[in-house]
Amino acid sequence: MIAQQFLDQVEAHTTMSALVSTRVKLTRNGREWKACCPVHSEKTPSFTVNDEKGFAHCFGCEFHAGPIRWLTEVEGLDFLDAVRKLAEDAGMAMPERSAASRAKAERVAGVRPALEAAQAVFAAQLGRVPSVQQYLQRRGVNQTLAERFGIGMAPEGRGYLEKAGIGVADGLAAGLMWERDGRTGLRFFGRITVPVHDARGRIVGFGARATPDAPADAAKYLNSPDSEIFDKGRLLFNLHRAAPAIRASKRALVVEGYFDVIGLAGAGVEEAVAPMGTALNEAQLTQLWRLTRSPVLMFDGDAAGRKAARRACEKALPGIAPDRTLKVALLPKGQDPDDLARSQGTRGVEAAVEDALPLDAFLFGSVAEGIDAGSSPEDRAAVWDELAALADTIGHDELRGEYLAAWRARYERLVSGKERAGKTEVLATTVEAEDGDYRWPESEDDSEKRLIAVVRQLLQLRAEERAAMEPIREERRFVRELAKMAGLRLPQVDAVVKMIEMDMHEGSSAGRHESESVLVLYRRVLAVEGPLTEALLPVVVDGRSRPKAVTAGADVPPRAASALAWHDAGGV
Ligand code: UTP
Ligand code: MN
Repeated sequence: MIAQQFLDQVEAHTTMSALVSTRVKLTRNGREWKACCPVHSEKTPSFTVNDEKGFAHCFGCEFHAGPIRWLTEVEGLDFLDAVRKLAEDAGMAMPERSAASRAKAERVAGVRPALEAAQAVFAAQLGRVPSVQQYLQRRGVNQTLAERFGIGMAPEGRGYLEKAGIGVADGLAAGLMWERDGRTGLRFFGRITVPVHDARGRIVGFGARATPDAPADAAKYLNSPDSEIFDKGRLLFNLHRAAPAIRASKRALVVEGYFDVIGLAGAGVEEAVAPMGTALNEAQLTQLWRLTRSPVLMFDGDAAGRKAARRACEKALPGIAPDRTLKVALLPKGQDPDDLARSQGTRGVEAAVEDALPLDAFLFGSVAEGIDAGSSPEDRAAVWDELAALADTIGHDELRGEYLAAWRARYERLVSGKERAGKTEVLATTVEAEDGDYRWPESEDDSEKRLIAVVRQLLQLRAEERAAMEPIREERRFVRELAKMAGLRLPQVDAVVKMIEMDMHEGSSAGRHESESVLVLYRRVLAVEGPLTEALLPVVVDGRSRPKAVTAGADVPPRAASALAWHDAGGV
């Protein structure tokens, strides 16, 4: 490991345009340089190099690289070689390797060859087991596809590592063997193997699936154990193969299993990756966000799939930004992406991606599931509390405000029974443009800071009000019990109680303040321009027709948006 500080220094001492110009002919463009992108093919230049900021960025394909990344991705250098070259050019000495890193290098020196040798054994073995080949065929995995993914078979016999020249020390370090109480053994035998690579395409471990005729109590998958080179929390299966496709199509699919990735590739969808049995985390998302702004999670719509999607979304919130979000495509219950790809091909996958919900909409639906205008105030309050707590984890100030506002508006519609069917509105900072890219409206009079302040205040008022209402709630529960015993209809009792509450509420300054705040929120969420009077509000909320003063966000002049533009706009 080289210290980040040294990497930063080396990059700071490099003139990006000088580095890039050995491959690309650059022309001056103000403070930047411009050229046709070397990464994707284009006729009009959208590739820029900025020496002050020290990076190259393409507005066409979103390729983005500083000096080190440029050398590794475009020039194909090994990471260490890239750093060495830059250090040399800058006249800087490479740091001495620490004792720890020397020791690690020694430990893992034999690991890569061992993994490669094991892979060769597994791949060759598959050809000798017709029953497994037939099983794969039945699943739509033909020989070409199997070879592309390096699918293999760990032999049943125990001596295969030795025969391949892999010793115990390397076998253990590579995770191909286990050790317990001084005894050692083989980890993988009689299983279908799928090699797992790091982002640079080097094998780091295996997933090993039980064959169809394995005993019913055998674990479906055994994976390589976590180690210095196999870190489940950071790896994404297939990322090295999918990255170019993701960059080209600006689309990434995150699925749950190895065979979902393989099945999608079989149907011609190359942009899929998968974590290995763990919930997608922020480290993994960050890798995807470097390639595309909005990866699509595509999961089975059953309870487990929904739960996995929800967990991944929650983990994403701290890291989201206008150019870092995600979408969720839940398939019909009992159907995973592999099934979908097989039964409906690319078309079916495209349709599912098309229907994917934006992060905010998915989370709202997931939290608010099951409540409506008829739900008890307690249930409704619990839902809002949960939404507010989730929004609170969003690290990006402006987005946090917008999520609160958007969720508040939807929540109010839901609990008032005025939820509109159909398309949900998009957040103001993340309006989708027609070309699938995104843009955001120019800032309004109500600055983001004010919006956030208003939302905070609103939440605070809500909390205070809730505390003050507690005794009334007690009483109401009591009244409801009585009403039930007396055989009265509860909805009627509730309606009367609500009217009384509303009367009390309207008289208070908290009530007035709140309705003002709500107006601000609606203005922002619905991208309302011009005066929004209270009289217009029901029309807007109902969505029956749009009054003149209200225009959709679509009329706002488009602005090229990308990580760089966001950066330039002072977003970072
Ligand atoms: P799935 O059961 O959906 O796997 O588990 P799959 O890859 O689609 O396999 P098929 O279609 O049944 O053949 C999703 C992922 O969870 C991990 C694996 O990474 C798997 O791909 N997993 C699953 C395990 O690590 N261990 C298990 O026992 C099961
Ligand atoms: Mn599956």
